[in-house]
Amino acid sequence: MEALKQKILTDGKVLSDSVIKVDAFLNHQVDPLFMQTIGEEFAFRFANSGITKILTLESSGIAPAVMAGLSLQVPVIFARKRKSLTLNEYLYSAEVYSYTKNESNEISVSKDYIDSHDVVLVIDDFLANGQAVLGLIDLAEQAGAALKGVGIVIEKGFQKGGELLRDRGIHVESLATIASLADGHVTFQTEEAVLR
Ligand code: G4P
Repeated sequence: MEALKQKILTDGKVLSDSVIKVDAFLNHQVDPLFMQTIGEEFAFRFANSGITKILTLESSGIAPAVMAGLSLQVPVIFARKRKSLTLNEYLYSAEVYSYTKNESNEISVSKDYIDSHDVVLVIDDFLANGQAVLGLIDLAEQAGAALKGVGIVIEKGFQKGGELLRDRGIHVESLATIASLADGHVTFQTEEAVLR
Protein backbone atom coordinates (compact mmCIF):
# COMPACT_ATOMS: atom_id res chain seq x y z
CA MET A 1 0.00 0.00 0.00
CA GLU A 2 1.87 3.00 -1.34
CA ALA A 3 0.28 5.66 0.89
CA LEU A 4 1.25 3.67 3.98
CA LYS A 5 4.84 3.31 2.81
CA GLN A 6 5.00 7.08 2.29
CA LYS A 7 3.55 7.68 5.75
CA ILE A 8 6.16 5.37 7.29
CA LEU A 9 8.92 7.22 5.44
CA THR A 10 7.69 10.70 6.40
CA ASP A 11 6.39 10.11 9.94
CA GLY A 12 8.27 7.00 11.13
CA LYS A 13 11.44 7.18 13.21
CA VAL A 14 13.94 4.36 13.06
CA LEU A 15 15.01 3.69 16.65
CA SER A 16 17.38 0.79 15.98
CA ASP A 17 18.12 -1.92 13.41
CA SER A 18 14.98 -3.72 14.55
CA VAL A 19 12.50 -1.13 15.85
CA ILE A 20 10.60 1.68 14.14
CA LYS A 21 8.50 4.23 15.98
CA VAL A 22 5.20 5.12 14.32
CA ASP A 23 3.50 6.92 17.17
CA ALA A 24 2.47 9.73 14.81
CA PHE A 25 -0.26 7.68 13.14
CA LEU A 26 -0.49 4.16 14.60
CA ASN A 27 0.77 3.56 18.15
CA HIS A 28 -0.15 6.76 19.94
CA GLN A 29 -1.76 9.43 17.78
CA VAL A 30 -4.26 8.09 15.27
CA ASP A 31 -5.01 9.80 11.98
CA PRO A 32 -8.67 8.75 11.48
CA LEU A 33 -8.93 9.51 7.77
CA PHE A 34 -5.71 7.69 7.03
CA MET A 35 -6.79 4.82 9.28
CA GLN A 36 -10.02 4.64 7.31
CA THR A 37 -8.07 4.05 4.10
CA ILE A 38 -6.19 1.26 5.90
CA GLY A 39 -9.52 -0.28 6.91
CA GLU A 40 -10.78 -0.03 3.33
CA GLU A 41 -7.64 -1.75 2.05
CA PHE A 42 -8.12 -4.66 4.46
CA ALA A 43 -11.78 -4.86 3.42
CA PHE A 44 -10.76 -4.92 -0.25
CA ARG A 45 -8.16 -7.66 0.33
CA PHE A 46 -10.61 -9.82 2.29
CA ALA A 47 -13.77 -8.97 0.32
CA ASN A 48 -16.34 -11.74 -0.20
CA SER A 49 -14.58 -14.02 2.30
CA GLY A 50 -17.64 -14.48 4.49
CA ILE A 51 -15.97 -12.77 7.47
CA THR A 52 -18.35 -12.34 10.39
CA LYS A 53 -15.96 -10.95 12.99
CA ILE A 54 -12.66 -9.13 13.34
CA LEU A 55 -10.41 -10.12 16.22
CA THR A 56 -7.56 -7.90 17.41
CA LEU A 57 -5.47 -7.15 20.49
CA GLU A 58 -5.51 -4.00 22.58
CA SER A 59 -4.31 -1.34 22.24
CA SER A 60 -2.80 -0.47 18.86
CA GLY A 61 -4.70 -3.12 16.91
CA ILE A 62 -8.01 -1.51 17.74
CA ALA A 63 -7.92 1.48 15.38
CA PRO A 64 -7.13 -0.44 12.15
CA ALA A 65 -9.47 -3.26 13.21
CA VAL A 66 -12.40 -0.92 13.81
CA MET A 67 -11.89 0.77 10.45
CA ALA A 68 -11.76 -2.62 8.72
CA GLY A 69 -14.91 -3.59 10.61
CA LEU A 70 -16.59 -0.41 9.43
CA SER A 71 -15.77 -1.24 5.81
CA LEU A 72 -16.69 -4.92 6.07
CA GLN A 73 -19.69 -4.09 8.27
CA VAL A 74 -18.86 -6.69 10.90
CA PRO A 75 -18.26 -6.39 14.66
CA VAL A 76 -14.77 -6.06 16.09
CA ILE A 77 -13.66 -7.75 19.29
CA PHE A 78 -10.37 -6.88 20.96
CA ALA A 79 -8.59 -9.29 23.27
CA ARG A 80 -7.63 -7.73 26.56
CA LYS A 81 -4.18 -8.02 28.09
CA ARG A 82 -5.42 -7.41 31.61
CA LYS A 83 -8.52 -8.74 33.22
CA SER A 84 -11.06 -5.97 33.49
CA LEU A 85 -13.58 -5.48 36.25
CA THR A 86 -16.41 -6.49 33.98
CA LEU A 87 -14.61 -9.25 32.06
CA ASN A 88 -15.65 -12.23 34.16
CA GLU A 89 -14.44 -15.81 34.24
CA TYR A 90 -16.40 -16.75 31.11
CA LEU A 91 -13.29 -16.37 28.95
CA TYR A 92 -11.03 -17.87 26.36
CA SER A 93 -7.42 -17.15 27.31
CA ALA A 94 -4.01 -17.63 25.71
CA GLU A 95 -0.45 -16.92 26.72
CA VAL A 96 1.51 -14.52 24.50
CA TYR A 97 5.26 -14.25 24.91
CA SER A 98 6.93 -11.12 23.61
CA TYR A 99 10.54 -11.61 22.54
CA THR A 100 10.87 -7.84 22.20
CA LYS A 101 9.74 -7.13 25.73
CA ASN A 102 10.82 -10.46 27.26
CA GLU A 103 7.53 -10.85 29.06
CA SER A 104 4.39 -12.93 28.86
CA ASN A 105 0.85 -11.62 28.79
CA GLU A 106 -2.33 -13.56 29.21
CA ILE A 107 -4.80 -12.35 26.60
CA SER A 108 -8.52 -12.99 26.90
CA VAL A 109 -11.84 -12.58 25.12
CA SER A 110 -15.29 -13.22 26.48
CA LYS A 111 -17.02 -16.36 25.25
CA ASP A 112 -20.08 -14.16 24.70
CA TYR A 113 -18.69 -12.54 21.57
CA ILE A 114 -17.08 -15.29 19.53
CA ASP A 115 -18.38 -18.74 18.72
CA SER A 116 -18.26 -21.64 16.29
CA HIS A 117 -20.43 -19.80 13.74
CA ASP A 118 -17.83 -17.06 13.33
CA VAL A 119 -15.47 -16.63 10.41
CA VAL A 120 -12.64 -14.56 11.82
CA LEU A 121 -10.21 -12.05 10.37
CA VAL A 122 -7.33 -11.32 12.77
CA ILE A 123 -5.92 -7.80 12.50
CA ASP A 124 -2.90 -6.30 14.24
CA ASP A 125 -0.67 -3.26 13.90
CA PHE A 126 2.73 -5.00 13.77
CA LEU A 127 3.89 -8.48 12.85
CA ALA A 128 7.31 -9.17 14.35
CA ASN A 129 7.76 -12.64 15.82
CA GLY A 130 4.13 -13.58 15.35
CA GLN A 131 3.37 -14.44 18.95
CA ALA A 132 0.47 -12.01 19.39
CA VAL A 133 -1.19 -13.26 16.19
CA LEU A 134 -0.70 -16.89 17.23
CA GLY A 135 -2.32 -16.06 20.57
CA LEU A 136 -5.31 -14.50 18.80
CA ILE A 137 -5.62 -17.53 16.50
CA ASP A 138 -5.52 -19.75 19.61
CA LEU A 139 -8.49 -17.80 21.04
CA ALA A 140 -10.45 -18.19 17.78
CA GLU A 141 -9.69 -21.93 17.72
CA GLN A 142 -10.84 -22.35 21.32
CA ALA A 143 -14.14 -20.78 20.26
CA GLY A 144 -14.39 -23.22 17.34
CA ALA A 145 -14.41 -20.29 14.91
CA ALA A 146 -12.95 -20.52 11.41
CA LEU A 147 -9.88 -18.41 10.61
CA LYS A 148 -10.11 -16.63 7.26
CA GLY A 149 -6.84 -14.77 7.43
CA VAL A 150 -4.60 -12.25 9.09
CA GLY A 151 -4.31 -8.55 8.20
CA ILE A 152 -1.23 -6.64 9.34
CA VAL A 153 -0.52 -2.94 8.99
CA ILE A 154 3.29 -3.21 9.19
CA GLU A 155 5.16 -6.50 8.88
CA LYS A 156 8.82 -6.65 9.80
CA GLY A 157 9.96 -9.05 7.09
CA PHE A 158 13.34 -9.56 8.75
CA GLN A 159 11.69 -11.20 11.76
CA LYS A 160 10.17 -14.66 11.86
CA GLY A 161 6.44 -13.98 12.27
CA GLY A 162 5.42 -13.81 8.60
CA GLU A 163 7.21 -17.02 7.70
CA LEU A 164 5.84 -18.79 10.77
CA LEU A 165 2.24 -17.97 9.83
CA ARG A 166 2.56 -18.53 6.05
CA ASP A 167 4.29 -21.87 6.60
CA ARG A 168 1.15 -22.93 8.45
CA GLY A 169 -0.90 -22.09 5.37
CA ILE A 170 -2.42 -18.97 6.91
CA HIS A 171 -3.42 -16.22 4.48
CA VAL A 172 -1.48 -13.17 5.66
CA GLU A 173 -1.96 -9.74 4.07
CA SER A 174 0.50 -7.07 5.17
CA LEU A 175 -0.06 -3.54 3.91
CA ALA A 176 3.63 -2.66 4.18
CA THR A 177 6.52 -5.05 4.72
CA ILE A 178 9.81 -3.69 5.95
CA ALA A 179 12.83 -5.62 4.67
CA SER A 180 15.42 -3.72 6.70
CA LEU A 181 15.90 -0.90 9.18
CA ALA A 182 19.68 -1.02 8.97
CA ASP A 183 21.65 2.24 9.25
CA GLY A 184 18.55 4.24 10.09
CA HIS A 185 16.98 3.59 6.68
CA VAL A 186 13.64 1.95 5.95
CA THR A 187 13.76 -0.48 3.05
CA PHE A 188 10.53 -2.09 1.93
CA GLN A 189 10.13 -5.58 0.55
CA THR A 190 8.61 -5.72 -2.92
CA GLU A 191 5.17 -7.31 -3.26
CA GLU A 192 6.69 -10.16 -5.28
CA ALA A 193 9.21 -10.94 -2.54
CA VAL A 194 6.45 -10.92 0.06
CA LEU A 195 4.36 -13.36 -1.93
CA ARG A 196 7.41 -15.52 -2.74
P1 G4P B 1 5.01 -10.43 18.05
O1 G4P B 1 3.67 -10.36 18.72
O2 G4P B 1 4.92 -10.34 16.54
O3 G4P B 1 5.81 -11.63 18.51
O4 G4P B 1 5.77 -9.10 18.43
P2 G4P B 1 6.64 -8.65 19.69
O5 G4P B 1 6.30 -9.49 20.86
O6 G4P B 1 8.02 -8.55 19.22
O7 G4P B 1 6.00 -7.19 19.92
C1 G4P B 1 5.57 -6.72 21.14
C2 G4P B 1 4.95 -5.35 20.99
O8 G4P B 1 5.82 -4.49 20.26
C3 G4P B 1 3.64 -5.31 20.25
O9 G4P B 1 2.91 -4.20 20.71
C4 G4P B 1 4.10 -5.02 18.81
O10 G4P B 1 3.05 -4.47 18.05
C5 G4P B 1 5.19 -4.05 19.06
N1 G4P B 1 6.23 -3.95 18.06
C6 G4P B 1 7.04 -4.92 17.58
N2 G4P B 1 7.95 -4.40 16.76
C7 G4P B 1 7.72 -3.07 16.70
C8 G4P B 1 8.33 -1.99 16.03
O11 G4P B 1 9.32 -2.11 15.27
N3 G4P B 1 7.79 -0.75 16.23
C9 G4P B 1 6.72 -0.55 17.05
N4 G4P B 1 6.27 0.69 17.15
N5 G4P B 1 6.12 -1.54 17.70
C10 G4P B 1 6.61 -2.79 17.54
P3 G4P B 1 2.13 -4.15 22.07
O12 G4P B 1 3.03 -4.39 23.23
O13 G4P B 1 0.99 -5.11 21.97
O14 G4P B 1 1.70 -2.66 22.15
P4 G4P B 1 0.33 -1.92 21.94
O15 G4P B 1 -0.51 -2.72 20.97
O16 G4P B 1 -0.29 -1.86 23.28
O17 G4P B 1 0.69 -0.61 21.36
